[in-house]
Amino acid sequence: MRPADTIHWDDTTGSLLLIDQTRLPLSYRVIRCKSVERLITAIQRLEIRGAPALGIAGAYGVVLATMTVKEKEFHRYFRQVEALARTVADARPTAVNLSWAVTRVLTELRSADSIKEVRRVAVREAGKIADEDAEACHAIGDYGAALLPDTGTVLTHCNAGALACREWGTALGVIRSAVRDGKQISVIACETRPLLQGARLTAWELRRDDIPVTVIPDSAAAFLMRQGEIDCVIVGADRITADAVFNKIGTYMHAVCANAHGIPFYVAAPHSTFDHEHTQDQITIEERDRDEVAYYGRYATIPEGVPVRNPAFDATPLSLVSALITETGVIRPAAGTVAGKRRVI
Ligand code: MRU
Repeated sequence: MRPADTIHWDDTTGSLLLIDQTRLPLSYRVIRCKSVERLITAIQRLEIRGAPALGIAGAYGVVLATMTVKEKEFHRYFRQVEALARTVADARPTAVNLSWAVTRVLTELRSADSIKEVRRVAVREAGKIADEDAEACHAIGDYGAALLPDTGTVLTHCNAGALACREWGTALGVIRSAVRDGKQISVIACETRPLLQGARLTAWELRRDDIPVTVIPDSAAAFLMRQGEIDCVIVGADRITADAVFNKIGTYMHAVCANAHGIPFYVAAPHSTFDHEHTQDQITIEERDRDEVAYYGRYATIPEGVPVRNPAFDATPLSLVSALITETGVIRPAAGTVAGKRRVI
């Protein structure tokens, strides 16, 4: 497996290979998932994470379900596969790509009329989702690169890079494409408390690609904006409803600050992240474990008995978003226009 392959299906062993993102940057380890249960653990522990990568994981979760169920009678087999696959879709609630991909593969399976065919179709459809994700990220990169200055500093939050997708990335894909086009871009990566996806993963990826990156505490962002050190903000998304962008906790704070300082705030995401059915008040924001906030490694940082809130995501109203960068074009939510190909939302 090349280092850039965040998630990779190994057909010879019937297993899903994932970079263990909980160990970066200290060590680079690959996890082999051969069962739905192991994949769910990987998703919930954030060994695999980031909305597009979760979509690919969900798709291969259906493949694992088709291989795990031992029932011989076709209709009972199909129902058991569906039920097992749904447990993967429910492993994390906020990133819509996960349930979207599970549903897409299950829908495709309805054309199959034998157990062998179900397994074959599942592998094929999951592979298509992974390939489409890579293509989408490169297209997002191309559209987004045009929005970045020829020389400048971009602030990003969490990790919306190659590690969050099959490759290239969404927000970091835009930065990669701009650098490839000769732009002089340096990146400010917010560390992203409490699990440090910015400090650990974004910094690791960009360093590996020789793109200049500096890590700041999340709370330093407003100060740097006020100092004139940030030219634009670009983040990924876990779900884009009719009225808001859901992304890693802290994103809303950056959007408010960017708007207060007249700095463009961009969101880069593929269409698989759009949820046209819901509005923000209908979405479940994952609340994670107290210990993620209450411990620094092995050391407690909060007195015992003091309650903690640990929401993993927040919602940024579309009115604060300067542009949504998708694989089919750039959407200006305020103006309601798309400067690109095909679809207008
Ligand atoms: O909890 P995580 O690490 O899965 O959260 C990830 C994010 O919030 C990313 O910004 C988002 O999924 C976009 S990834 C292209």
